[in-house]
Amino acid sequence: MSTADVAYAPETAAHDLEIEDINAEAFGPGRFARAAYKIREGGPHRRDLSFVAIVDGKVIASVRMTEVAAGEGRALLLGPLAVRPAYKNLGIGKRLVAIALDAARKDGCRLVLLVGDAPYYAPLGFSKVVPFGQVVMPRPVDPRRLLAAELQAGSLDSFAGNVVHADVVAGNRSVEPRRDVA
Ligand SMILES: CC(C)(COP(=O)(O)OP(=O)(O)OC[C@H]1O[C@@H](n2cnc3c(N)ncnc32)[C@H](O)[C@@H]1OP(=O)(O)O)[C@@H](O)C(=O)NCCC(=O)NCCS
Repeated sequence: MSTADVAYAPETAAHDLEIEDINAEAFGPGRFARAAYKIREGGPHRRDLSFVAIVDGKVIASVRMTEVAAGEGRALLLGPLAVRPAYKNLGIGKRLVAIALDAARKDGCRLVLLVGDAPYYAPLGFSKVVPFGQVVMPRPVDPRRLLAAELQAGSLDSFAGNVVHADVVAGNRSVEPRRDVA
């Protein structure tokens, strides 16, 4: 397989089952206890800003984006990001993040947040959210893993307080929380 065989595309509902399987493989049952999962329960993700990598018609990697709010601030929460083990270390994860960031920027998003390993995400423009405690996740998170990429300088300044799904603030919360998103 060459990296030229990998196609990148916006996510559609037809990808849902494969994405759920990829996330189950990558994160196991513990994914349901994660802080980011708790937020994503608050409403749907942005399919148009979420992307898959496809090889031979099969989804082999996925990244999702979800609109979130904290105080007056708005952002996209990036994740989960997962790549099938057989396709790791080919640059697919970083390419997916770069594509999602580009789409977010074009959509007018000013800030992207995630929980993840700083050494992996730093080359993609993410750095630790400081001061620690400015952004509060609904479940405990190692503050060194709470990262943000400002797509517009200074956008993190107004993003402060408890992070929730943007629909919770807008009063659009779905009656039934989603169960298909890791
Ligand atoms: C983390 C993950 C998405 C990386 O995807 P990938 O396509 O293999 O990554 P890329 O090919 O884009 O990048 C590989 C590089 O990142 C490094 N890397 C991978 N995971 C890393 C991590 N957790 N921390 C730091 N560096 C990491 C690799 O060592 C490699 O470095 P190199 O380029 O110097 O050789 C993938 O391993 C995965 O799905 N893991 C399980 C789920 C997960 O942890 N998701 C991230 C949640 S924040």
